[in-house]
Amino acid sequence: VQPLVHDCDPGIDDAVALLLALHSPDLSLRAVTTTHGNVALTDTTRNGLELLAFAGRADVPLYAGAAAPLVRAPVYAPEIHGRGGLGSVTLPETAKQPEALHAALALSQLSREFSGELTVCATGPVSNLALAERLDPGCLARLKEVVIMGGSLDVSAPKLGNVTPYAEFNTYADPHALRVVLESGARVVLFGLNLTRQVRVTRERVAALHALGTPSAVLCADMLADYLNRIEVRDQRVGALHDPCTVAYLLRPELFALEAARVHVNTDEGERAGMTTLEDGAPNVQLATHADEDGVYALLHERLR
Ligand code: BDR
Ligand code: CA
Repeated sequence: VQPLVHDCDPGIDDAVALLLALHSPDLSLRAVTTTHGNVALTDTTRNGLELLAFAGRADVPLYAGAAAPLVRAPVYAPEIHGRGGLGSVTLPETAKQPEALHAALALSQLSREFSGELTVCATGPVSNLALAERLDPGCLARLKEVVIMGGSLDVSAPKLGNVTPYAEFNTYADPHALRVVLESGARVVLFGLNLTRQVRVTRERVAALHALGTPSAVLCADMLADYLNRIEVRDQRVGALHDPCTVAYLLRPELFALEAARVHVNTDEGERAGMTTLEDGAPNVQLATHADEDGVYALLHERLR
């Protein structure tokens, strides 16, 4: 059973990713770590605690982490995820509290406890991973794999980014952190918008999920329906099941095609802040390039059923 830490900023699609992991006995979720991102750290932390309690998994420790990016000022996305981060959904309150330890220190400890075996799935800005690497150099290279939702590497897309014309949200929210991770020598698998936009969220997909009728499936469907409402009133952005792709990859790697690549992150300010590009040189990631969309949804149904 694969030991896993989910570093996240729930966030509607983070919540779906977390529920997919929690309902997968072939993953052993050792901790949830939270970061600033879609909403402020206090909100992502409360959402993480409530999601664990909702899924009957209050036994999983949650460590709160970075309240802000390494260098830039925080940016949030309440227009996509709602003011509290989970759309219009309100989960039952829980007495569960975060652990006393900072997320970065928890990552460091767990990387030693499960040296060479621990996988980290990161579905928010990667500030906690960068802090762990700075506090404990070599921490990330001690991991088996770091699976990240971030970046956008399809130069032929009409809109490369989702937060600016050039940048994807997680990378824009902390580009310096992604750079630290890419320079750490960790085995990174990168799921950018070029990949996640292949796994679309549509009304039909949401209805099918809802029809499963289990509490987790209905919760995911309700949150995703709310997400579709929000993006539809904004522009023609395609709804995409970004974050769950990372967990789906851990469960069924054959659903995705990967290619070795060297990714550069622009840490300069200006209109291309947080933009990711391919460059020549030694590969620093395995870049996910193709997804089996039906396969990802079949897996989600199998686990949430
Ligand atoms: C990423 O940004 C967030 O809004 C989503 O949760 C996802 O992690 C997509 O760009
Ligand atoms: Ca996220």
